[in-house]
Amino acid sequence: MMGKITAAITGVGGYLPDYILDNEELSRMVDTSDEWIMTRIGIKTRHILKGEGLGTSFLGEHAVKDLLEKTGTDPMDVDLVICATVTPDMFFPSTANLICYRAGMMKAFGFDVSAACSGFLFALWTASKYIETQTYKKVIVVGADKMSSIVDYTDRNTCPIFGDGAGAVLLEANTEGLGVLDAILHSDGGGAPHLYMKAGGSAYPATHETIENRWHTIHQDGKTVFKAAVSNMGDTSVELMERNHLTPDDVRYLVPHQANLRIISATANRMGLPEDKCMINIDKFGNTTAATLPLCLWDYEQRLKKGDNLILAAFGGGFTWGAVYLKWAYDGGSFSI
Ligand code: UT7
Repeated sequence: MMGKITAAITGVGGYLPDYILDNEELSRMVDTSDEWIMTRIGIKTRHILKGEGLGTSFLGEHAVKDLLEKTGTDPMDVDLVICATVTPDMFFPSTANLICYRAGMMKAFGFDVSAACSGFLFALWTASKYIETQTYKKVIVVGADKMSSIVDYTDRNTCPIFGDGAGAVLLEANTEGLGVLDAILHSDGGGAPHLYMKAGGSAYPATHETIENRWHTIHQDGKTVFKAAVSNMGDTSVELMERNHLTPDDVRYLVPHQANLRIISATANRMGLPEDKCMINIDKFGNTTAATLPLCLWDYEQRLKKGDNLILAAFGGGFTWGAVYLKWAYDGGSFSI
């Protein structure tokens, strides 16, 4: 008898634009220092997409091309692409739509998911259902953000935090119990005033006034977001471990959203995990919003083994937060499932 069908990640791709903005350069733009940024946030460098007219779909396209090449997947075999982003190229068409076209996935349909830093988790959980129900065979989930397009580079409270990048995973059916197994996801619109971009949408379309008031960039009440991130990411991850009977020894890696090294450490602490069980690349890439989780998987892929238990956890604007439990489906860079 065939086992239950689960959605396994069978490959991961990533892309970071060439330009590197380091703390020295930032210190010349605003009143900050490498020492402050490293001790308060833990970021050394972030990648920035330069180039006229290049948006998030450019980042996503390259992450997907990396994924297709690594997995030897024919773009025409992809059924669906879901892109998590808060920095779409435009309101419409969707970024996923543009990525499908640019990467030659002409038989796929696509749509975007907007859940800020939790976007990849929301999109991954959604995508896994299309595989479990056998509706589609190959589904790609992209997390991509060009955060530099909505960062105010005169605001020292936010400009050191964010970077640009994209990651993508391929989901396929598995009957060995590997892949996406459980999730706890939440959203609370009461958190909106603490992390948001006020204008540019239907409430405040662009006017001279919205531009003069700097309403087209990120506004964050850092301390409130910090506290909510620590408690919610930690509590949700612990709840997910408990209901799947996982002890800290059973978990190979926490794959945390990369917003602040102190938030990552506090989350791991609540889960009873030592730091060497945390995927960390915030120092290199900063907070790439929807891209942090797939970029962690991409960065650590060689160290992963078939059967490894991973807890992915995120918190972000909305508020949105949650955790996903998955079993990794292949060894290192090989595709041996
Ligand atoms: O991914 C979405 C979710 N986002 C997050 O999870 C971010 C959560 N929040 C945070 O990570 C932290 O709150 C921040 C990194 C944003 C700020 O760190 P903080 O320890 O909460 O600092 P703070 O905002 O309380 O500021 C402390 C001091 C202030 O000076 P005074 O008022 O004490 O004189 C700030 O003006 O640090 C000052 N400050 C800076 N100093 C140098 C703020 N930004 C900077 C800076 N360089 N870049």
